[in-house]
Amino acid sequence: MDATTVTRAPVLILLGPPGAGKGTQARKLEDKYGLVQLSTGDLLRAAVAQGTEAGKQAKAVMEAGELVSDEIVIAILRDRIAEADCAQGVILDGFPRTTVQAEALDALLAESGQKINAAISLEVDDAAMVDRISGRYTCAGCGEGYHDTFKTPKQSGVCDHCGGTEMKRRADDKAETVASRLEAYHAQTAPLIGYYDSKGALSRIDAMGKIEEIAAGLGAIVEKATG
Ligand code: AP5
Repeated sequence: MDATTVTRAPVLILLGPPGAGKGTQARKLEDKYGLVQLSTGDLLRAAVAQGTEAGKQAKAVMEAGELVSDEIVIAILRDRIAEADCAQGVILDGFPRTTVQAEALDALLAESGQKINAAISLEVDDAAMVDRISGRYTCAGCGEGYHDTFKTPKQSGVCDHCGGTEMKRRADDKAETVASRLEAYHAQTAPLIGYYDSKGALSRIDAMGKIEEIAAGLGAIVEKATG
């Protein structure tokens, strides 16, 4: 069996720098294929909001645009992926982000005889990412993502997904923090493209186009990897 063999519920990874559209596309794949989006960024922000020990340790690191320790992130991911809903298949958004995390994921999946189906690299220009991130906001109710220019709700201030009217912006979405986040991506996460390529599990997609066009391309990759 090669690295893309499906043995159980699908496990897909979205790789890409901040602003590449991982969260936007993961939510679409979730809706279309009934997979569960697992975003370690969302899990960490929830831990910060709840004031857990992990959240207290993560808060300043996230605000500086650096990576939270492998130990904390792996523990959070391990707990979440063990929950019942994940048995239907998962899309990992923002995890793994280091080689240590990628190896930990391989080991975790191997415990249940699983492997990842595909790691999909969203390929973008760094220069466009600052615009994407600085215009981003999300629905406080359901987490649906929007953008001041590129993705506005049908009715201004009202979430298309849940009808909520409270929108929020992230503390780390400032231009200076985005630069640190991009630096962390290139130094610590981009090497994972080679890691998954060497396992025969990598697909690449041009993520500079329109959201719906990228979603269609991703859907084709997902169907091939899980069909
Ligand atoms: P995380 O929450 O994972 O943030 P990120 O990787 O920096 O990614 P983003 O959420 O900023 O971008 P995205 O690719 O999801 O883009 P989106 O779809 O929103 O991590 C935050 C922090 O948590 C990290 O810095 C780190 O400290 C910590 N952390 C998390 N995981 C970790 C881990 N595994 N290890 C260690 N630390 C970890 O799109 C962006 C905007 O662009 C949106 O407004 C969207 O509407 C718009 N948009 C999307 N696609 C397009 C398009 N094609 N054209 C135009 N606009 C678009």
